[in-house]
Amino acid sequence: MAILVTGGSGYIGSHTVVELIDAGYEVIVCDNLSNSSEKSLERVAQITGKKIPFYKADIRDRDAMNAIFDKEEITAVIHFAGLKAVGESVSKPLEYYDNNINGTLVLVDVMAKHGVKNLIFSSSATVYGSPAFIPITEECPKGQCTNPYGWTKSMLEQILSDIQFADKEWNVILLRYFNPIGAHKSGLIGENPNGIPNNLMPYVTQVAVGKRPELGVFGNDYDTHDGTGVRDYIHVVDLAQGHVKALKKIEEKAGLKIYNLGTGNGYSVLDIVKNFEAATGVKIPYAIKPRRPGDIATCYANAELAEKELGWKAQNGILEMCEDAWRWQKNNPNGYDD
Ligand code: NAD
Ligand code: UD1
Repeated sequence: MAILVTGGSGYIGSHTVVELIDAGYEVIVCDNLSNSSEKSLERVAQITGKKIPFYKADIRDRDAMNAIFDKEEITAVIHFAGLKAVGESVSKPLEYYDNNINGTLVLVDVMAKHGVKNLIFSSSATVYGSPAFIPITEECPKGQCTNPYGWTKSMLEQILSDIQFADKEWNVILLRYFNPIGAHKSGLIGENPNGIPNNLMPYVTQVAVGKRPELGVFGNDYDTHDGTGVRDYIHVVDLAQGHVKALKKIEEKAGLKIYNLGTGNGYSVLDIVKNFEAATGVKIPYAIKPRRPGDIATCYANAELAEKELGWKAQNGILEMCEDAWRWQKNNPNGYDD
């Protein structure tokens, strides 16, 4: 009896594997390593004392996926595998639609043929587009995404909902993540972006470690308390624990459920800079730059539904998120290549 974690050697996946093992689950990972290193799972083994069975496989490879399901006794799948770089998705839409949508279609088809109909899917607050209201509840209508990556999430939510509607044996939980940052307290696993980071926190930590001279702040003329963009940053370990709670819900025959995983607090870019400096004592030089196309002013969650129905609430505050992100970066300036 095991949980299959697709994309389990990636950033959120590796943290979730740790929390699943801590909660007593048997875990199997499948990943094609297109955006991760198997070393993350060696570190997970170091943290948990358990070696995690690993299949290097692409979720689009039906034969490989069938072989995994034939061999292992899988009861549920937590599905992280996918491409996630927003800018790249604009220049390579076909790659994103193929990887994320075809990949998921193959995965759920193989699952159904093996009678495994329990799925937790990594969605994103990006499906709300420019949100109709804030704080964003799950009732907030989905919006216009600004890039193919976002559309893959929005479309997959629809596809998975339709599959569950047609066959009530399916239990599907769509988790809409806000902005995951931070790292495991051990400093052994963390976010390991390729090339120049697109996201704020890895950029900040790379400035702090001396890999980049300064942070570019994308716009200071938004309608927010200091003019810079406001987001709901959530500690990746809290996010990972949300998946363990979602799995418990699946075991109670959840049907179709959608939950925001956020903290309910919004921090601006400059708030992050200040909190990072306070948490670490490291100065972050920055320069104001033009707005980044596709960005919105403010995005934060109402996370009460997850608290009510899953018994889950984020525990870590912004200082802990900054401290933990920094410990990981400082100990591993080149990620898993160190
Ligand atoms: P990540 O890139 O670190 O992890 C994704 C993993 O999936 C990688 O290890 C990659 O090698 C693997 N993968 C990609 N395509 C695959 C395929 N076809 N077959 C097998 N493995 C494949 O990203 P992450 O930040 O851990 O994100 C995990 C999931 O959460 C993704 O679906 C992402 O879109 C979603 N998400 C992430 C964020 C975020 O800010 N990190 C926010 C919202 C949603
Ligand atoms: C972005 C994606 C979103 C995706 C999420 C997680 C866009 C438009 N949205 O969200 O679809 O789900 O990442 O991968 O890309 N910022 C700077 N300087 C930087 C980097 C970011 O000022 O170098 C600002 C941004 O303008 C924003 C905030 O920091 O206001 C957070 O940015 P980021 O970490 O990229 O997350 P999102 O834009 O919220």
